[in-house]
Amino acid sequence: MRNITKQNVTEAVKQSFEKIEDPRLKLLIERLVTHVHAYATETQLTHAEWQGALGFLHRAAAISSESRSEFTLMSDVLGLSSLVDLLASRPGATEGSVLGPFHTRGSPWVESGANLIKDNPGVPVLLRGKVTSTQGAPIAGATVDFWQNADNGLYWQMDSTQPQDNLRCQMQVLPDGTFELLTIRPQPYMVPTDGPIGELLRVAHRDAWRPAHYHLIVEAPGHRTLVTELFDAEDPYVAQDAVFGVRESLVANFKPESDPAVLAKYRLAGPYRVVDFPVVLAPAS
Ligand SMILES: [Fe+2]
Repeated sequence: MRNITKQNVTEAVKQSFEKIEDPRLKLLIERLVTHVHAYATETQLTHAEWQGALGFLHRAAAISSESRSEFTLMSDVLGLSSLVDLLASRPGATEGSVLGPFHTRGSPWVESGANLIKDNPGVPVLLRGKVTSTQGAPIAGATVDFWQNADNGLYWQMDSTQPQDNLRCQMQVLPDGTFELLTIRPQPYMVPTDGPIGELLRVAHRDAWRPAHYHLIVEAPGHRTLVTELFDAEDPYVAQDAVFGVRESLVANFKPESDPAVLAKYRLAGPYRVVDFPVVLAPAS
């Protein structure tokens, strides 16, 4: 087009992508152009603001590495990650919540009933779950990928004093769909604030805290993979998660208990907490 104007520029850019063959990709790009242009028009975006935004992205790229993605954090604090999780949730199934930056594939496989505590300080917690379909049938083929932070609030990747794969595991559920592991109570922690997202949080007077949580990925053949979190109801930050991951259905009571059989099984010296997490997977289709 020879004469680009404010009125026709959006259409001209959309047309430039007309030859994308994948219909889904074509839709995503077409809607991206539409909304980015509408944003600039609606806000009457200035050159200085536009350059400021590009600089922000450059700083995000500069501080990112293999073990840290400032772009994931950007998505998280803007609530985009959470919205994508909510869009992927299905009625009757356990709600999804943010994956976060500390999951890596390949955690050690353990049997249900494993004790992850080892040398970790912290309050012992017996986590018990049962994986079922939306019809209530146990899913014997399900696997659980679990990870959490240590008592000092750090994940093992952030803390050279922790052994590799500390407080993380994968396990196959038992034939009745249940699983159990002994671990410690998770701790609240702050998302990183030394990059451009930290600037954004400070200018907004926003908290960087995430309430204490366990992370789980539950998978089973024929079912939608569930990426979710389980939150501690007593955590002071449970109502103000920096990344908008909390759902009421994922907030659980860590109940005090001292069942002699559990104390003996796990060789615990004193009371522990117990938390139950029923996991419902939606069908794949
Ligand atoms: Fe986390």
